[in-house]
Amino acid sequence: MMWEDTSQDLWAGDASRSPLGAASAPAGQHGDRFVTGNLTGEDLDVERSLRPQKLDDYCGQEHIKQSLRILIEAAQSRGETLDHVIFSGPPGLGKTTLATVVANELGAQIKTTSGPAIERTGDLAAILTNLQPGDVLFIDEIHRLNRSVEEILYPAMEDFALDIVIGKGPAARSIRLEIPRFTLVGATTRSGMLTGPLRDRFGISFRLDYYGIDDLAQIVLRSAAILGVAVDHDSALEIASRSRGTPRLANRLLKRVRDYAQVRGSGQVVLPIAREALEFFEIDELGLDWMDIRILETLAKTFRGRAVGLTTLASAVGEDPSTLEDVYEPYLLQRGLMVRTPQGRMATLAAFDHLGVEPPVR
Ligand SMILES: Nc1ncnc2c1ncn2[C@@H]1O[C@H](COP(=O)(O)OP(=O)(O)OP(=O)(O)O)[C@@H](O)[C@H]1O
Ligand SMILES: [Mg+2]
Repeated sequence: MMWEDTSQDLWAGDASRSPLGAASAPAGQHGDRFVTGNLTGEDLDVERSLRPQKLDDYCGQEHIKQSLRILIEAAQSRGETLDHVIFSGPPGLGKTTLATVVANELGAQIKTTSGPAIERTGDLAAILTNLQPGDVLFIDEIHRLNRSVEEILYPAMEDFALDIVIGKGPAARSIRLEIPRFTLVGATTRSGMLTGPLRDRFGISFRLDYYGIDDLAQIVLRSAAILGVAVDHDSALEIASRSRGTPRLANRLLKRVRDYAQVRGSGQVVLPIAREALEFFEIDELGLDWMDIRILETLAKTFRGRAVGLTTLASAVGEDPSTLEDVYEPYLLQRGLMVRTPQGRMATLAAFDHLGVEPPVR
């Protein structure tokens, strides 16, 4: 296996220079959307303080937490490193948080990078050779690793070895370097884009699902306590129910409601103020914003509930088809407001109901 000379500018082992921040910024085209689960600039400062550090602080996802507890304890009692773990699921559900939590629970150091940040095989080789035994290497957006880099990862994950080719042509020979045993933690929002060989090398795989309202309310109350905002239980539930199942969004809404309560109220978040604030910021009872409503109205009113192809729908609402599919549809599908049929997208009865539009008689 070939790898190029490593550059001087490697940041392995130096978290402060990690290119992660830039790499996980929202894709520009839909970065402005308030209800996006993607990371936005304003989340950055707050996320650091609100991010749970241990499994006990991590709300919800009970099955994942219980499994992790067992797997971590078992590995530790055998004196081994934890098997490689991959977390998949939509943005803002807590994959990065879980990676940190795993490292903390293991009492291990975490080195953080991301798929697109590792451009060359030499970059990855440098990261791997700089690991200490037992370290956690976290690769965010791991589906975006390029193929040649990915191939370096296979023997590293399986045999804790690095295969290096020295020289060129007939004189080339391969040597194998041992690297310390480590745990790779991968995160991906697009598990379908992982290659088979990479997926197979993770011993542990978890898919994070959208959170229920009670778990989100717990997250809101926890964050409020950290931020020093008085939020009552009903307001926490109200914020939770408009957060699209996403902790990042719950925290963002909480901050907006806090600001509103500070300026228009007494600073305390009580239900009438919370409702007023959420209405003011145009987040409806299901957490839908104007674009979601526009999509549903197009399906329900313009097309009268008939099945519509993706590109037709996209041009009707003035979005590009891939953005519609990746950014807007998942939540509408998950809430059962829209269905995808072989004939196209359709509004469901729940959507007609939510819009207050009479469904067509069939
Ligand atoms: N289970 C949880 N309990 C409490 N807070 C949570 C939980 N999950 C996520 N959060 C909060 O939500 C924020 C976003 O989570 P995180 O950055 O881990 O999401 P992510 O899945 O990595 O998103 P992305 O796909 O955009 O990288 C965190 O800062 C954290 O404060
Ligand atoms: Mg993340």
